[in-house]
Amino acid sequence: MEFSIKSGSPEKQRSACVVVGVFESRKLTLAAELLDKAAKGYISDIVRRGDMDGKAGSTLLLHNVPGTLSDRVLLIGLGKEKEFHEKEFGSAIRTAVKTLNETGAFDASLFLTELSVRKRSVAWRVRQCAMIALDATYRFDQFKSKKDEVRRPLRKLTLGIERRNELALAEEALAQGIAIAEGMAVARNLGNLPPNVCHPTHVAEQAQAMAREFKLHCEVLERADMEKLGMHSLLSVAQGSHQPPKLIVLSHQGGKAGEKPVVLVGKGVTFDTGGISLKPAPDMDEMKFDMCGAAGVLGTMHTVARLKLPINLTVIVPATENMPGGGATRPGDIVTSMSGQTIEILNTDAEGRLILCDALTYAERFEPDTVIDVATLTGACVVALGSVASGLFANKETLARELLEAGEEAHDRAWHMPLWDDYQELLKSPFADMGNIGGRWAGAITAACFLSRFTKKFKWAHLDVAGTAYKSGADKGATGRPVPLLAHYLLQRAGKLN
Ligand code: BES
Ligand code: MN
Ligand code: ZN
Repeated sequence: MEFSIKSGSPEKQRSACVVVGVFESRKLTLAAELLDKAAKGYISDIVRRGDMDGKAGSTLLLHNVPGTLSDRVLLIGLGKEKEFHEKEFGSAIRTAVKTLNETGAFDASLFLTELSVRKRSVAWRVRQCAMIALDATYRFDQFKSKKDEVRRPLRKLTLGIERRNELALAEEALAQGIAIAEGMAVARNLGNLPPNVCHPTHVAEQAQAMAREFKLHCEVLERADMEKLGMHSLLSVAQGSHQPPKLIVLSHQGGKAGEKPVVLVGKGVTFDTGGISLKPAPDMDEMKFDMCGAAGVLGTMHTVARLKLPINLTVIVPATENMPGGGATRPGDIVTSMSGQTIEILNTDAEGRLILCDALTYAERFEPDTVIDVATLTGACVVALGSVASGLFANKETLARELLEAGEEAHDRAWHMPLWDDYQELLKSPFADMGNIGGRWAGAITAACFLSRFTKKFKWAHLDVAGTAYKSGADKGATGRPVPLLAHYLLQRAGKLN
């Protein structure tokens, strides 16, 4: 979809459809009022008659409205004006785009970005609008032999803003919104691919393709390289699989030379059977999404590279399958991680932390300013937070706060969880430096505690996205989270968030 920004009056737009809002009190928004005036009360008459009550989610399509230059006018119900906040703004945009896709209009002028949203700038509204519009029209049908074609899909969206002097700001925000949506689509595509296609080699090839497209530096470590580095924890997860593991490193040098990078580490388990600690059969297909952490950090890199952000960013993806097999790790096996710490593997299904710990140790060589890992790490996190918030852990309060704020700004929220020392003792092992599980309780926290033992040398945060990176049920699929959160955090660091 193509976007543009305009400051102008709705009645003068020459497009297939003009979209304006109506509040629940039947109060017209400013743009709707202007249309109504040009139409000599045509719209307010319809609203008064009750054909459009302004309830959130309601829509009414009008044709040949007098006094306007557009073929159609689409009214969008916005709910109560006093309750029109971020979430309602997002829903209104989503409803508008979905409806437009079904009306037959190829292009439309959207006058919802003019609405004021508490505490939010015009840049925020435009960025959010582009993200939501593209997210709402995302499809993944490459494996359907018959695609359900949209009859006349929306091709061009013009966003109306009130003031001409805000155009430059809005244009920049638009580019950001589009880039974030693209990053989300990269993450969703990778996540949605079936696990027979999206194996570690495929993830590595996608990273290499991205490197070519944006002139990034890319390095892929093979099993032999990992052996030399002593990544026996990572390798222990891969040893039950016929697919070779890959450790993917991708760097964007947008900042000053010598500036310490942000490093993002993403869990790339392309299929998690649980290994010898085999998972139960129901819904096991969803464990193809166990590489959504990797997809999220690669998607974020896509956004950053597209925007040429003036920061140094390195992405590390440990990619492997977790399969049972004759060569697979047994519960009770002890491995030595790259850090030198030994791990008793009590449950082969707690494999995410086993690959992340070596990737985190590997991150040390980039002398990072900040390291953030992203992982579909624990079912316990889903029990705690559901699919609303990602679990956030950090060894530095300021970093936690910055990430929480980025999540609020992006409407891709996280919740701060504790990393208190008291939890560490749950990882005790009689035979090794630690076990890889902490028992029945506080599973998301003990997993984070495990990782914290490998991140002492830098500022570090961990996002458990097991509940947020994909959806189950009727609309099963990757969501593209936490690309918006991470992208906003990096935009903020680059001083580009208005
Ligand atoms: N990939 C899973 C976590 C997961 C579970 C993600 C459900 C999404 C939905 C992870 O590798 C895992 O199996 N974790 C175990 C840890 C346990 C064995 C300590 C879990 O959460 O049950
Ligand atoms: Mn597992
Ligand atoms: Zn897993």
